[in-house]
Amino acid sequence: MVELKFRCTVNPPSDINNSGKASKKFSENLFIYSSNMPQYLSADKEKELIETATTLIVKGKGVLAADESTASMLKHFQPLGLENNEENRRLYRQILFTGSKELSNYISGVIFFHETFYQYDNNGKSFREILKDKGIIPGIKVDKGLVPLAGTNGENTTQGLDNLSERCAQYYRDGARFAKWRCALKIGDGLPSELCIRETSNVLARYASICQQNGIVPIVEPEVLSEGDHDLETCQYITEKVLAATYKALNEHHVFLEGTLLKPNMVTAGFDCKKKYKPEDIARATVTALQRTVPPAVPGICFLSGGQSEEEASINLNAINQYPGKKPWALTFSYGRALQASVLATWVGRPENVSAAQNQLLKRAQAHGAAAKGEYKGGASGTAGGQSLFEANRNY
Ligand code: 13P
Repeated sequence: MVELKFRCTVNPPSDINNSGKASKKFSENLFIYSSNMPQYLSADKEKELIETATTLIVKGKGVLAADESTASMLKHFQPLGLENNEENRRLYRQILFTGSKELSNYISGVIFFHETFYQYDNNGKSFREILKDKGIIPGIKVDKGLVPLAGTNGENTTQGLDNLSERCAQYYRDGARFAKWRCALKIGDGLPSELCIRETSNVLARYASICQQNGIVPIVEPEVLSEGDHDLETCQYITEKVLAATYKALNEHHVFLEGTLLKPNMVTAGFDCKKKYKPEDIARATVTALQRTVPPAVPGICFLSGGQSEEEASINLNAINQYPGKKPWALTFSYGRALQASVLATWVGRPENVSAAQNQLLKRAQAHGAAAKGEYKGGASGTAGGQSLFEANRNY
């Protein structure tokens, strides 16, 4: 009989310190692993990142994504007959940020677009200060949008790494404590390609590393789009593949997972799929995909709404939180459309509707906040509560 022997050897961790030997601290305490690499994070920075990340995902709270680029605000304003100029954008964002302090019971952070980050309310107070006074953490979108990935079947990567460290340092000085970078992957015939998965994972990891160097918690967003007629199982399979690649890349870039947040799609069927699934099906597929791919070191997962109606986004988040099984991360929201649709539909550009529009935001934030605790009973309604917010080829 032939005896087969396999032996696996591991290369010395040459990137841990210059001697090529794991330091004593490393072998004693894996948690502070990254602190031992002078090129990575100090213990103080790790502590700060953990504090920011855990404050963002505190039970019953989530993030308001108000970082639509100038181009994508056009899609919000055009149906209302509003001109997409700087002043109208400021007036609209002022509605989001200047309502009742009660908003901070449900919203822990706001993601700004660069222009808005440096805007002021009618009384000359910066939006950042207004939010900070309410106990809401200012965040910033640092990617520069989707660009074609040449040689693929219409796939994209995301640009914005140039000068990212300098930009993050400046945003930190100006009060930002977390950031967002969105990659978008399509499901289709042979899509997403291996190239697209590899490229987007790598760019997300590089972004995350640069943010952490500057004291900023990176929200890592590999969005699997809901365009298409694929079923729930296909979305789950692709989401698992994408998240597995994302965490491999984050690991390769030495990203300190305890100081990150993930912003994924929920696992849903494609928008044009004929078969309809229940919130419990979406919850099972979503939690299973996350269990298989997201390390427990990640403190929280804040979903994007991805074209779901406001009400669906509450109900599905609630089902996810009620789903029994291992969930070692906080599961909450970082919604754009599903927090703003009723606000826009109520405001319609009229000053006399501002306070009613602010009430809509508060009501939906409260519903999502309850869903983040698995306590949402349904029926929060809202001007655009049940309306689908799907949009093909969405670029932020
Ligand atoms: P939606 O909730 O509108 O999908 O967007 C959130 C977001 O920030 C996407 O980058």
